[in-house]
Amino acid sequence: MKYSEQVLDHFTNPRNVGVIQDADGVGKLGNPVCGDMMEMSIKVEDDRIADVKFRTFGCGAAIATSSIATEMIKGKTIDEALTLTNQAIAEALGGLPPTKVHCSVLAADALKMALADYYRRQGNLKKAQELVGDELEGAGEAACEIESAAPLYWNDPEAIAEVLTQQYPTLNPLDLSLPALFRRILNAPGFSDDPDAATEELLEKIQLLWHEEASE
Ligand code: FES
Repeated sequence: MKYSEQVLDHFTNPRNVGVIQDADGVGKLGNPVCGDMMEMSIKVEDDRIADVKFRTFGCGAAIATSSIATEMIKGKTIDEALTLTNQAIAEALGGLPPTKVHCSVLAADALKMALADYYRRQGNLKKAQELVGDELEGAGEAACEIESAAPLYWNDPEAIAEVLTQQYPTLNPLDLSLPALFRRILNAPGFSDDPDAATEELLEKIQLLWHEEASE
């Protein structure tokens, strides 16, 4: 699947690039595997996102998703901004190749972190914790206790995908950012390989295999 015209448009002509100096909330997120970095800053007035800016050092999809996400929440109430999902971001861009869906997760998560930071600065620590704790770590998802028969290594992505499918039966792997996927693999029963040997390509492959396995 190629990039859509909307992705190319937002990649070559990104909107709302920059930093808000007196921001009310800032969210920064990095993907340790591909090395991409994203930062969103928001200005809130009367409970609305009066301004939002982003800086992304990363792939074309990461730039396009963060650019369109800023357009989608500008002028919206905080509650409306909180409902923005990575699926909605990807849809607004006319879709993303399956291996690049995780880039839209990074954009949605960076925005959630900015909103969590806003709540933190307002003294609403409970709300801030709810956002970064549950949403980013997937604390609410059902994880099954399973036993892995054999040790898992990076050179057998099919086996890793199979274990993840059993472990997280209700989770759509395409909703995960690569860091979130990476953490789950490291915690998978039987995983016995070197974390530093992970590559972006490998994680994308496992994500797709997991998605295929879960769709069967
Ligand atoms: S966010 Fe790293 S490959 Fe897109």
